[in-house]
Amino acid sequence: MQILRSNAELSLWKAAHPDCAFVPTMGNLHEGHISLVQQARLSGLPVIASIFVNPLQFGAGEDFERYPRTFEADCGKLQSAGCTAVFAPALEDMYPQPQSYFVEPPALASELCGEFRPGHFRGMLTVVLKLFNLVEPRVALFGKKDYQQFALIRGMAAQMNLPIDIRAGETVRADDGLALSSRNGYLSDAERREAPRLHQQLKQIGEALALGRRDFEELEVQALDALYQHGWKVDYLSIRRPDLSLPAEGDAQFVVLGAAWLGKTRLIDNVETGPGL
Ligand code: PAF
Repeated sequence: MQILRSNAELSLWKAAHPDCAFVPTMGNLHEGHISLVQQARLSGLPVIASIFVNPLQFGAGEDFERYPRTFEADCGKLQSAGCTAVFAPALEDMYPQPQSYFVEPPALASELCGEFRPGHFRGMLTVVLKLFNLVEPRVALFGKKDYQQFALIRGMAAQMNLPIDIRAGETVRADDGLALSSRNGYLSDAERREAPRLHQQLKQIGEALALGRRDFEELEVQALDALYQHGWKVDYLSIRRPDLSLPAEGDAQFVVLGAAWLGKTRLIDNVETGPGL
């Protein structure tokens, strides 16, 4: 596996690998990322992952500084998963000047996570577009755990006519249901034991919807109460259509999304339900 530290090294690699599948990451890799690499390999293309902790998508007071940097271990995992190259640009490669041009996201970027992390999706889409322009992949893969992120990237690729096949990978979970996340490492032992409750509550709503309940607000409030009672601070819990618009009674397919804090750690998760999901 080649480690590419700069845009110049990436250009040389691309000359030898004109078509590739791409897995963008911020590092501190877990099984969720590795399953994306494995899925990417099924394309038959050489797989390149990126590791770059993007300051543009962190708000003031968020965890940019303490976000775990585990480069050596990440490279070992990528190599074992059959990755062909890892692109790990320096900050000055990605941002040679202070970034003053941005992707202007749609209204969806101000809802759900966007309501609580203003500017996050603008910064995320901007770096993803920059990475796409540098790597020029044929296929790019993103995890469904970040469902709203995936929806926005797919929308950007479609509306900006990017010649990239954007694919989603299923959320990988621990045995107790907790979605794997780089941020799980922040949890204390007691918080880690409590953490699966978010998924349990989303799943319960999903099951109620599958049984035909359509009292969306009541379902959301019940789950909110259950989380509050166990010490969570909930940012949002929302039943949506798969395209993240608001649901209606006649709908059959839903995604239930939530973001909530356990102590100083913010966890997000979602559950899809309905025919074909
Ligand atoms: O999901 C992530 O790790 C990041 O948001 C991404 C897509 C790599 C952009 O920095």
